Amino acid sequence: MGKLDNKVALITGAAQGIGKSCAEMLVEAGAQVVLADVQQEEGQKAATEIGEKAAFRNLDATSEADWQETCDWIVDTYGRLDILVNNAGISPAANIEDTSLEFWRKVMGLNVDGVFLGCKYGIGAMKKAGNGGSIINMSSGAAMRANGNLTAYNTSKAAVAMMTKSVALHCGQTKTGIRCNSVHPGTIRTRMVTDYVNTLPDPAAALEAMSSGSVIGRLGEPEDVAQMVLYLASDESSFITGSEMVVDGGMIL
Ligand SMILES: NC(=O)c1ccc[n+]([C@@H]2O[C@H](COP(=O)([O-])OP(=O)(O)OC[C@H]3O[C@@H](n4cnc5c(N)ncnc54)[C@H](O)[C@@H]3O)[C@@H](O)[C@H]2O)c1
Repeated sequence: MGKLDNKVALITGAAQGIGKSCAEMLVEAGAQVVLADVQQEEGQKAATEIGEKAAFRNLDATSEADWQETCDWIVDTYGRLDILVNNAGISPAANIEDTSLEFWRKVMGLNVDGVFLGCKYGIGAMKKAGNGGSIINMSSGAAMRANGNLTAYNTSKAAVAMMTKSVALHCGQTKTGIRCNSVHPGTIRTRMVTDYVNTLPDPAAALEAMSSGSVIGRLGEPEDVAQMVLYLASDESSFITGSEMVVDGGMIL
């Protein structure tokens, strides 16, 4: 028996990085997983690699129409949605003076609006089946510690943490059986981080500084975050809702 047997999960931004690792781990635990992403080729490849319990859907998390269509498709196809991981996000760097309104709206458009739409339509799909559910919103350590060069990202991830609590309260007060929690990774070895590091004058030194920035003394791996997502997705965490789950090797103490 797997922890997630008979459960159906939707993960956004699942073509690579943390989202892909979550998809692998949830399938391993017995779930049927829908990987959603704007990268069609990469996403389809990831689903094929994971196997028959994985399917790919093209979803732009900023599009309300895509959310409606994907949630309807999941309920029509599998009869239920139990787990939603709002993972898709971007982290372009800029300080307040260099942040244009367009840049600000782009970050908010995915990191905040995308999570809002996911929660809204995910709850609708979960309620249709009436089995409760678990929503997991990918925030960041950046919700808790400011960086002068990440104004929009810091703000967006703090918004996700508070949105999560509001959603958790609503779902509890309306007796839906749906829980909602946020996950706050530290520095995790994905393309998001390597692309950023490669813009710096000395990428190796930057990676070394990032590694020694945590008590554990290494970068996080996508699997470190996926383990937390698996826990929050499973009934083992049935008494946890509205919480901020930090996975950062002790970076923020
Ligand atoms: N890597 C880290 O150190 C770290 C730390 C804290 C939080 N996070 C958060 O974890 C999440 C995943 O990060 P990652 O490091 O795996 O990033 P990544 O860049 O490797 O992957 C992000 C995925 O999101 C997809 N995506 C982008 N725009 C999208 C859209 N509009 N709709 C659907 N999918 C879209 C991309 O195609 C990609 O597959 C993000 O929300 C990020 O902010 C990452």
